[in-house]
Amino acid sequence: MPSLDLLLSRFSTDALAEPAPQGAVLDTILSTAMRAPDHGRLRPWRYVIVQGDARPALARRIVASMKRLDPDVAPAKIEKRQTRFSTMPMIIVLGMHLRPGDKIPLIEQELAVGAAAMNILNALHATGFGGVWVSGDVAYDPELAAELGFPAPHGLAGFLFVGTPRPGARGPTRRAVDDYVAEWTGTPVRFGADDA
Ligand SMILES: Cc1cc2nc3c(=O)[nH]c(=O)nc-3n(C[C@H](O)[C@H](O)[C@H](O)COP(=O)(O)O)c2cc1C
Repeated sequence: MPSLDLLLSRFSTDALAEPAPQGAVLDTILSTAMRAPDHGRLRPWRYVIVQGDARPALARRIVASMKRLDPDVAPAKIEKRQTRFSTMPMIIVLGMHLRPGDKIPLIEQELAVGAAAMNILNALHATGFGGVWVSGDVAYDPELAAELGFPAPHGLAGFLFVGTPRPGARGPTRRAVDDYVAEWTGTPVRFGADDA
């Protein structure tokens, strides 16, 4: 598929079946992270692959985190998260190896992690796989991050659910970009997207 068509057709989905990418294909997909823009060459992105029996174990940690963050969390919410984390074909934990004292601002380190994750989502699509980036409060729970290998100041940027899109899976409809673009000619710009 020509590359622009690829970029213009990618969508997120959690309607995912087996298989998830493995071996050399997975390596290639993850290698696209190394092409992300990265001020200072800090390479702050880290990937933790969770599959097979590790999934329910991760789900238990997620549930523990949910209860820690909100002791009154609704049982239905717990059940939904537990099922998703236990059954997605693969989960890639998006880790962030952060250096708060570095001359490169933290936000730029986090943006690089996001750019690398985007490359991975595009590479999944390019290879016939798919996924979705999810977070929730648990993604920012320092205790969960530490349990996964990212003690403070490091942390998580979320999770990628990864697999093969089920037939008919598709993302939200897209708007034209015009309302999100402006040309600056000396006065502050306005965007159609922001008009009430
Ligand atoms: C940092 C980040 C966190 C996200 N967390 C969630 C989430 O917890 N739940 C969710 O449904 N979508 C979440 N999303 C949005 C989806 O990943 C996805 O972008 C959205 O469903 C729109 O689909 P699209 O990528 O096809 O436009 C998140 C996106 C980002 C960038």
